[in-house]
Amino acid sequence: MNTAPIARPLAARRTGSLRGAAQVPGDKSISHRALILGALAVGETRISGLLEAEDVLNTAKVMRQFGATVTREDAGLWRVWGTGVGGWAAPAEELDFGNSGTGSRLVMGAMATTPITATFTGDASLRSRPMKRVLEPLEKFGATWDAREGGLMPLQLHGTSRPICIDYDVQVASAQVKSALLLASLNAPGRTRISQSALTRDHTEKMLKAFGADISVEPLARGEAIYMMGEAELKPCPVDVPRDPSSAAFPLVAALITPGSEVSIPGVLLNERRIGLLLTLQEMGADIGIANVRESGGEKVGDLLARYSSLKGVDVPPERAPAMIDEYPILAVAAAFADGRTTMHGLDELRVKESDRLSAIVNGLKANGVRVTEAADNMTVEGGKVPGGGRVTTHMDHRIAMSFLVMGLASDESVTVDDTSMIATSFPEFENLMRDLGADFLRVNA
Ligand code: S3P
Repeated sequence: MNTAPIARPLAARRTGSLRGAAQVPGDKSISHRALILGALAVGETRISGLLEAEDVLNTAKVMRQFGATVTREDAGLWRVWGTGVGGWAAPAEELDFGNSGTGSRLVMGAMATTPITATFTGDASLRSRPMKRVLEPLEKFGATWDAREGGLMPLQLHGTSRPICIDYDVQVASAQVKSALLLASLNAPGRTRISQSALTRDHTEKMLKAFGADISVEPLARGEAIYMMGEAELKPCPVDVPRDPSSAAFPLVAALITPGSEVSIPGVLLNERRIGLLLTLQEMGADIGIANVRESGGEKVGDLLARYSSLKGVDVPPERAPAMIDEYPILAVAAAFADGRTTMHGLDELRVKESDRLSAIVNGLKANGVRVTEAADNMTVEGGKVPGGGRVTTHMDHRIAMSFLVMGLASDESVTVDDTSMIATSFPEFENLMRDLGADFLRVNA
């Protein structure tokens, strides 16, 4: 079991203009999936642009524990030799996913229809996150599990030797749950049907198709249904991972709120189901250029150019939430600098992220003198003045830490976050990259 690393607080101070190019790292969602599908394919999968952050490195380690060969050739350049669908071996040791909900939930699905048992664990944040949302539907394939009270990690998952295909409606707006079930269906004979009313990110579907799975998608009046033929044989397919829009969001918003700034961010993933923040910022009046839109590795990518902008408050509709679910902390920061009121609806899933993100955002804003109100699934930020001067409790949540450091670059007084060590789970280069653009960060004592 891992222990919490020593806290590394950091303060952000009002900065002159930010300028330059921000080369943000590879997309986290696609990186996890590339390793997992590579480990389920027969033969060699080549990955370029892999995100080399703790969450993804934990998934790479776990793939080795299941018997895949995973090697790093160069920065971002990885090779995976898979064992084939149904070919994973029982791991000798427990699987430690660190902070990663995505890695752990996707892997639960990927092993549930193979007759092996594994123990899943992670850090204090992951051990408090709900796993029944994946475990209960996996029972329908025939898998069984034992977990701590409430379906929490550490837990044991027993994959089934007699998987059956299922027809299941995913009620929760989660791409992780949908993806886990699609991965489980790979080794279940017959046709599985997974429906979902929310249009959550579709990287698993796209990548499964690229790896040769028999998968099709049918639009529904609300949402869509995905059909997968089981007993699949996956063929390796090179994966070129685009840059992560959820990481790009930090230098992007930093440029919008810091007077005189102009920051470019090349090669960012622009998948339609990931661009809710871009749409919202444009509605707020942000000056964001999108150029050189192209296809890369089956995904749409483009180059962004963000300039300091005077923003205005907007209403963000609940149906947009799946397309920007990780971006509310940084949107709340942008909203604090906007003229007028921003209300964000449909935020219930934020309660079960790396922290209760809704409360963490609200408390962080309040600690820095921003007026904000919170309800069960929405939040209203009164924008305009951002006094700063507060200390933010991050609750082991990387996106809370990065968002409030961005806020401190343009607030009247500096903003301190109580810990930055967990930023390495998704964006290890964050501090240096932001300093290179001109950000004034200051190490402070714990
Ligand atoms: C992810 C899905 C989202 C998102 C997470 C990555 C994925 O989680 O918050 O960072 O890669 O499928 P949920 O499925 O819980 O919404």
